[in-house]
Amino acid sequence: FHPFGLMTLIQPPADEVLDRAAALLAAGKLIAIPTETVYGLAANAWDRDAVAKIFAAKQRPATNPLIVHIAAIDQMDRAVMMPLAPELQRQLDCVVDLWPGPLTVVLPRSNRISDVVTAGRDTVAVRIPSHPVALRLLRRCPFPIAAPSANRSNYVSPTMAEHCDGAMDQPGIHQFIEMVIDGGDCDFGVESTIVALRPEGPRLLRPGGVAAETLAERFGITVPQLTGEQLPGLHLTGTPLTDAVAESAAEAGVTADGTAAMLAPGMMKEHYSPTTPLMLYDTARPMSLPARAGRIAFKPLSVQEAACYAAVETLSDSGDLHEVAKGLFAALRRLDHAELDLIVIDCCEPVGIGMAIMDRIHRAAATHSK
Ligand code: TXA
Ligand code: MG
Repeated sequence: FHPFGLMTLIQPPADEVLDRAAALLAAGKLIAIPTETVYGLAANAWDRDAVAKIFAAKQRPATNPLIVHIAAIDQMDRAVMMPLAPELQRQLDCVVDLWPGPLTVVLPRSNRISDVVTAGRDTVAVRIPSHPVALRLLRRCPFPIAAPSANRSNYVSPTMAEHCDGAMDQPGIHQFIEMVIDGGDCDFGVESTIVALRPEGPRLLRPGGVAAETLAERFGITVPQLTGEQLPGLHLTGTPLTDAVAESAAEAGVTADGTAAMLAPGMMKEHYSPTTPLMLYDTARPMSLPARAGRIAFKPLSVQEAACYAAVETLSDSGDLHEVAKGLFAALRRLDHAELDLIVIDCCEPVGIGMAIMDRIHRAAATHSK
């Protein structure tokens, strides 16, 4: 308890609320649910009509598959073709103790999963979230839950229940959402790490809440082996990791059934973008600021520097990257509503959770620099 009210105490939703949520899902409705990464827009993953509503609500291209959530490892066969080939089982065994948590694995799909979920692919993305409310809901459902982030396609992902109501940022989406379950602010604030488990070895598709270094260590390989850094042109700084892989693959002329198909489909297109132009802060290149510029700082600015901005969001007192990740999307949304001409944002080393932070920032900035 904080005497100054800086922390809101969230009452965990009552059992009756979760019973109602499970009943809505069983009836083919969409609801917004908390997870430890971001809020998800949830539907019964076995109900193709319900899943189709997710794509309509988000205006998401039908080619971009969804993540399927399960409550426990013994529910894998609700989404994945079991038993796994021995090599895939071996890879899963390396990382399975990171569940429940912000890790998604891509594996051969079960036929029980709607092909709307997998966008026609023969693989499915699956994870066990660690948010207690998500787990309580999943345990009530006799089906797996498909849930992308509960935002309009390409807008900033929601990390607070109030981001999900749709009124502000996502006109149209709210008429599809029957219920928002408030589980408090998301702990990680960036989406799950996605790793494809493949006969030829694991491949990182999206950096996220679990550090690439952690995965590489579990698999007994190096980060470059996991990220495909051996591809021509890939470098860890400057360009978002997965875009860099995509570009290198494109340069190398690799087609959809080759290297490019290893990427999370949709990651090339996803931008996480605010409407306001976003620019990365570059110490080496001082920039002239428009009259109304905002700044997202990873640690407190000097008084002189802060005075240059119409609005400043400070994500951490100490530059702690977990705090930065946790507050990042909410700060982007707030500044996007502050009628600014430009948002300037700090950078960090793409190490640990910093890799996910820089990936999202590069994507958010990319729309405006092109
Ligand atoms: O943290 C998260 O993962 C959140 C919460 C709600 O769980 N969900 C989330 O979903 O980020 P979404 O839809 O915003 O991102 C799903 C990503 C997309 O980039 C998609 O292309 C990729 O997962 N994906 C899904 N199925 C795939 C598959 N079979 N192969 C490769 N990538 C896949
Ligand atoms: Mg998303």
